[in-house]
Amino acid sequence: MATAIDQKHCHSGVTVTHAISHDDVILSTENLTKHFGALTAINGVNLRIGPGVHSIIGPNGAGKTTLFNLLTGFLAPDSGHVSYRGERISGLPPYAISQRGVARSFQITSIFAELSVFENVRVAVQSRLKASYNFLISHRSLKDVERKTAEILSRVGLENWADTTAKNLPYGLQRCLDIGISLATDPSLVLLDEPTSGVSREDTTNILQLIAAISRRLPVVLIEHNIDIVLSISDMITVLYQGVVLAEGPPAQVRDDERVQEAYLGGY
Ligand SMILES: Nc1ncnc2c1ncn2[C@@H]1O[C@H](COP(=O)(O)OP(=O)(O)OP(=O)(O)O)[C@@H](O)[C@H]1O
Ligand SMILES: [Mg+2]
Repeated sequence: MATAIDQKHCHSGVTVTHAISHDDVILSTENLTKHFGALTAINGVNLRIGPGVHSIIGPNGAGKTTLFNLLTGFLAPDSGHVSYRGERISGLPPYAISQRGVARSFQITSIFAELSVFENVRVAVQSRLKASYNFLISHRSLKDVERKTAEILSRVGLENWADTTAKNLPYGLQRCLDIGISLATDPSLVLLDEPTSGVSREDTTNILQLIAAISRRLPVVLIEHNIDIVLSISDMITVLYQGVVLAEGPPAQVRDDERVQEAYLGGY
């Protein structure tokens, strides 16, 4: 496996350098651009996502969630494109991108408040099975769905909360449920938008352990505001600033980058 050294000049003129094997890139973007009227929310972004945790950081309004919306089909780019496992996926609707294995959690929790924890995950598991469109669901496939649902609940540490109505779940555990729902579709890449936002310190630790465990099995792209968390958990960090990649690299390199310190860390 040859390792290529990428050198990209971003719009701000900064050269970002990092090593990533071509064989390891699961998702990439080329010159990705999105305008909202006069505002350019994402401006010529080139990303390469490989194994481990790749964090996207940047101040409020930097374009992080817009980037996720472009990667998952909730928005179509104005120019540039997104490739996933060698296939161009930009322009496909969200369900088609999800079917290909890209899962996401949302910045605002997306659970069904009135359903139980178990039912929330089961609905997500069923959404992947053809059987869900068929009234004659076999006993066997129902059992498969229940087994898979239970497996996911234990993976995210919610096995003892299965019967709890989701709205009664402590907030930190609701975020774990969000992550569980994103895992229900058997993804090969998971995008998490601020999974620790509003969460207590103790629950944050649990969520970080969960993310670390997930990332040992599949790549995770993480949007996270807490810089200490980002520096400790990430294999790679991309700093977005006004829709442009300001810097990119392993944690130590990004931490020591003067422009990042000025533009992001200093004023944050
Ligand atoms: N649908 C939309 N229509 C118009 N403007 C939008 C839309 N979505 C986002 N924006 C604008 O695009 C910019 C980037 O927003 P985005 O939500 O991607 O930022 P963010 O980095 O996720 O911020 P935060 O850290 O606050 O979540 C902001 O100026 C925002 O107001
Ligand atoms: Mg956001």
